[in-house]
Amino acid sequence: MKTQITELFGIEHPIIQGGMHYVGFAELAAAVSNAGGLGILTALTQPDPQSLAREIRRCRELTDKPFGVNLTFLPARNPPDYPGYVRAIIEGGVRIVETAGNNPQKWLPMLHEAGIKVIHKCTSVRHALKAESIGCDAVSVDGFECGGHPGEDDVPNFILLPRAADELRVPFVASGGMADGRSLVAALAMGASGINMGTRFVATQEAPVHQKVKQAIVAATELDTRLVMRPLRNTERVLNNAGVERLLEKERRLGPDIAFSDIAEEVGGVYPRVMKDGDLDAGAWSCGLVAGLIHDIPGVGELVERIMRQAEEIVAQRLQGMLARA
Ligand SMILES: Cc1cc2nc3c(=O)[nH]c(=O)nc-3n(C[C@H](O)[C@H](O)[C@H](O)COP(=O)(O)O)c2cc1C
Repeated sequence: MKTQITELFGIEHPIIQGGMHYVGFAELAAAVSNAGGLGILTALTQPDPQSLAREIRRCRELTDKPFGVNLTFLPARNPPDYPGYVRAIIEGGVRIVETAGNNPQKWLPMLHEAGIKVIHKCTSVRHALKAESIGCDAVSVDGFECGGHPGEDDVPNFILLPRAADELRVPFVASGGMADGRSLVAALAMGASGINMGTRFVATQEAPVHQKVKQAIVAATELDTRLVMRPLRNTERVLNNAGVERLLEKERRLGPDIAFSDIAEEVGGVYPRVMKDGDLDAGAWSCGLVAGLIHDIPGVGELVERIMRQAEEIVAQRLQGMLARA
């Protein structure tokens, strides 16, 4: 399939694996790229820029296809060494960067000068337009359904995507709630040039996370996620568990007076405990509503092929058939 996104990134299928903390290691990114999609390493999962440089080299050993690096800009009092991470990306010869979390304007000149294409992930049309205006090459539009940070506007993709299509000139992908060929065709119908998936790629053979995490996603339904940190305006969609129940109880009890320090136990340092050790109840970890559509743990190659085959069948048979009967 050829879309503006496959052309922009030089990939075979319009399917991107979004950056994911403690999931986006070389094994998964390379598997997605080898399957013809775009795999993405997560910079901040690496403890320092030297480790990111090593991870980029490791990914290159596993695939000769294009892959990207996610740079998440966090609201942190002591920010990570962003200049160092950007240097590691540029010196590592990476050609695609996914930015998220905050305006990437400061880094665009450096990245573009190095020939890097930037796709910015955002949760509203106004932020997408801002990304376009500062020179981002593409946008990932993340609907309210998404795992991770859906922003504070709560607009689901059935509205957000056509709104983005009406306003944007740069190509965009649909992110949040994407799982299969139906998602891809719907996203294309609403004006996107591809899809970005997070949760679906966690439940794959190659995702380097504890088996219990994958099984929890398969067992979950669309009713099992919760929104946490809303009072802090840092909303995150996570899979419900004992740690999340504890966190929500604190939010109810402390109301608008809540501070980050009150919930540090349920949100700080949770990812390695969940993803590596399989301690699912450690606290809040991102998971999308799309868990309700995930029923197996396929290989990445099989998953991507299945999505493309189903999408083609829907277009060529179901939709074409409806037109033919008209
Ligand atoms: C476990 C997990 C960790 C994530 N970590 C990050 C992250 O560090 N940076 C980021 O930009 N997005 C992160 N995301 C969001 C994904 O990149 C993607 O935008 C989102 O999962 C799309 O929604 P979906 O889960 O419905 O596919 C994470 C998502 C999950 C499920």
